Amino acid sequence: MRVIDMRGETDWDGWRAQARALVLAGVPPETLVWTVNPAAAPPPPPQAEGRFAVSRALVALAAQAIQARAPERFGLLYRLVWRAHAGEAVMEDPGHPDLAQARSLALAVRAEAHRMRALLRYLPAADGARLLGWYAPAQFVLEANAQVLARWYPDFAVSILTPEGSAHWEPAAARVRFGPAVDPALVPDDAALRAYWSEFGADLLAASTAGTSLPEAETFEEARRPPDRPALGPVVLGGYGAPDPALAAAAREAAACRRCPLSAPATQTVFGEGPPGARVMFIGEQAGDQEDVIGRPFVGPAGQLLDRALEEAGIDRRAVWISNAVKHFKFVARGRRRLHQTPVGPEIEACRFWLDVERVRLRPDVLVLLGATAARTVLGRPVTIGRERGRPIRLPAGETALVTVHPSFLLRVPDEAGRAREYAAFVADLRLVAGLAAAGAA
Ligand code: URA
Repeated sequence: MRVIDMRGETDWDGWRAQARALVLAGVPPETLVWTVNPAAAPPPPPQAEGRFAVSRALVALAAQAIQARAPERFGLLYRLVWRAHAGEAVMEDPGHPDLAQARSLALAVRAEAHRMRALLRYLPAADGARLLGWYAPAQFVLEANAQVLARWYPDFAVSILTPEGSAHWEPAAARVRFGPAVDPALVPDDAALRAYWSEFGADLLAASTAGTSLPEAETFEEARRPPDRPALGPVVLGGYGAPDPALAAAAREAAACRRCPLSAPATQTVFGEGPPGARVMFIGEQAGDQEDVIGRPFVGPAGQLLDRALEEAGIDRRAVWISNAVKHFKFVARGRRRLHQTPVGPEIEACRFWLDVERVRLRPDVLVLLGATAARTVLGRPVTIGRERGRPIRLPAGETALVTVHPSFLLRVPDEAGRAREYAAFVADLRLVAGLAAAGAA
């Protein structure tokens, strides 16, 4: 048996180089044992010459499946490549156990990438100069997803620490570097993570190097973005005009708000944002976990989805006001995670003061009520979203309200087809909003 060393769990370059050389040298899969050995010397340059081509679909499958936490994956993928090189249509043989297994590994990787994107949350490092995220991925998905994750906060230095490696986004250099792992026992909670970073962060950064050639992961959101559109960058605060001074003053006052008990455990008040004179106001439920840390509404996973849907509906986020019924994050702590809790009547009533300040000052034409809490807060009665969505409702103050789902609902739809359907319905509601706004919602 010949032992082939991979230099890391996601040594995509190494696996490709080895697989190519071995196939061309005619080395059959059953004579090989694949192992991970970071101390191994780089593989020798391929000796054998010849034409080696496998389908794009197989390469894409291999690039995902190699991220699976399954020791047999290197050999499994080599078997597929070996057969493909011999002329077999391996990708057209769904009944073959190797293809079925590779597909199931790739599926597990995609699911974990999605989960990581949804669950990863950040807290500011003690000096405030960097956001720190901790996550223990069930598959080896850090490298392929780090770029996408970092892009969410392109203006912040971001480090994602995991038990198998770390990724560090440096906005000035616009690149991700990959570095050493962090022992989970050393960072059992947020306070320990911060302390760990204060002591060892500089070492982790110094030890990190430019990364990986693993293709970036695609998720359903990325896949549906039209290819000619760039990713949405960060929202430019007051992008279309200087901030309204009265709203800026209200935001400063709200920062010290103690009208309800939610302010105590929260990191900060998350006031609405947008330009003066915004004709459309989006109202969500409450600041979420990421919003609480960053201090801006709809910047976490639900906000990312909202951004994409707005873009598809032709609505410029910089031209609208984005806010919440409740301006603090309500949560219950479960270990290192903070689980969202729905705000109750008194909390909503206490915060109504700030929502009214925003509404009175802006006098928008259209209010978009994202989900049941926002709808109930503004309409003053229980609302069944399915029954009332997409139907303009004239409010006593002259605004037109439109009820739709909350974007976090879309993140929770379990199956891909259902998610795509609900997303399309959400975009359709936003197109109605664009139409109402264009007509001045008269
Ligand atoms: N969910 C909300 O309702 N608002 C936010 O700002 C984020 C998530």
